[in-house]
Amino acid sequence: MSGFSIVGSGRYLPGRPYTNDDLARVMDTSDEWIRQRTGIEQRHYCPSGQGVSDLAYEASIKAIDSAGLKPTDLDYILFNTMTPDHLFPGSGPLLGARLGLNGVPALDLRAQCAAMLFSFQVADSLLQSGAAKRILIVGAEAHSGFMPWLDWDILEGTNKAAPSAEAWERATRHRGLAIIFGDGAGALIVERSTAPGVGILSMDLHSDGDLVDELLIPVGFRSRPYVSEQCLAEDLIIPRMQGREVFKHAVSKLPQSVRAAVEKAGMTLDDVDWFVGHQANDRINSLVRDRLRLPHEKVPTNIAKYGNTSAATIPILVDEMRRDGRLKAGQTVCYFGLGAGMHWGATVVRT
Ligand code: COA
Repeated sequence: MSGFSIVGSGRYLPGRPYTNDDLARVMDTSDEWIRQRTGIEQRHYCPSGQGVSDLAYEASIKAIDSAGLKPTDLDYILFNTMTPDHLFPGSGPLLGARLGLNGVPALDLRAQCAAMLFSFQVADSLLQSGAAKRILIVGAEAHSGFMPWLDWDILEGTNKAAPSAEAWERATRHRGLAIIFGDGAGALIVERSTAPGVGILSMDLHSDGDLVDELLIPVGFRSRPYVSEQCLAEDLIIPRMQGREVFKHAVSKLPQSVRAAVEKAGMTLDDVDWFVGHQANDRINSLVRDRLRLPHEKVPTNIAKYGNTSAATIPILVDEMRRDGRLKAGQTVCYFGLGAGMHWGATVVRT
């Protein structure tokens, strides 16, 4: 028992929602296809010029406020993103400076859609070792930067022209990827709790780099220079995703991990109040739910509104559940998720 406790939360979704019909203006897809295959109805994109440190700032302010704290009450930042403001440095120090926390340690973690699970473990260790007393954990993503179209005005509907045949073909080539991701940020504040029974009860975390080719942005520092005309021509700046393979891993590994975490906590699935999963595709979480025979109402979903916001997903969902009263003190939550790396796992936490 670790004494890890979530004492504040916030979320920020930039701009307006973009519907599936909006996307159908720039590529060959349809509202019906996207809803049936993913459960997604809309997603948000941050405006050009905004990045994850901006989104994270907005979510963090709300989290700090909800905990009744000031930014200076925080003594560590864990920043989770796969779409940083810059290739280096990480976005944690940028967020810290925005919050007036210059000098406070800010560490970026890179576990993509499984980010929160890894951050929970790191935060718990920092709290237990005494290295930190109150930690801001943020997940934020600006996926819009890798979307495979340039005609944002056509997507917005401000330009009624049709995209060029070349632009349409390019966006359509990447449509499996483009329809699932959205932008947003979620923030949690965690501290050591002395309340009896509260904390992380178990962890089941995994990583396997042999599966890296199933989801990655191919450009990188193996090439000289790391971005070239050829990279752009071959779209190596856009994530390459083997959607079916990722899907298969998710629906096999996640039920195993949830079972393992619940067993390690000395519990049964019935003892868990909520199974809060990363939201990549509603069909994934439905299959996880069915394979574990979990009641529908114990597996919350919000993917219809936001799409897959990668590292931001779990804190956004936690914030919704805290604010609407679903998530209550004393409840037991199993968090689970899988993402590029590949990283996956589950953790059981008593709130
Ligand atoms: N609109 C219309 N048609 C589409 C489409 C879209 N947005 N995306 C793909 N298609 C088409 C394909 O071209 C293909 O057509 P074909 O049979 O004529 O070749 C057909 O639909 C099936 O494609 P496929 O890629 O097999 O679809 P799918 O059912 O696997 O759904 C994903 C694609 C991406 C939605 C799904 O694989 C998925 O969600 N995978 C997991 C991804 C994930 O979790 N990623 C993040 C990890 S955190």
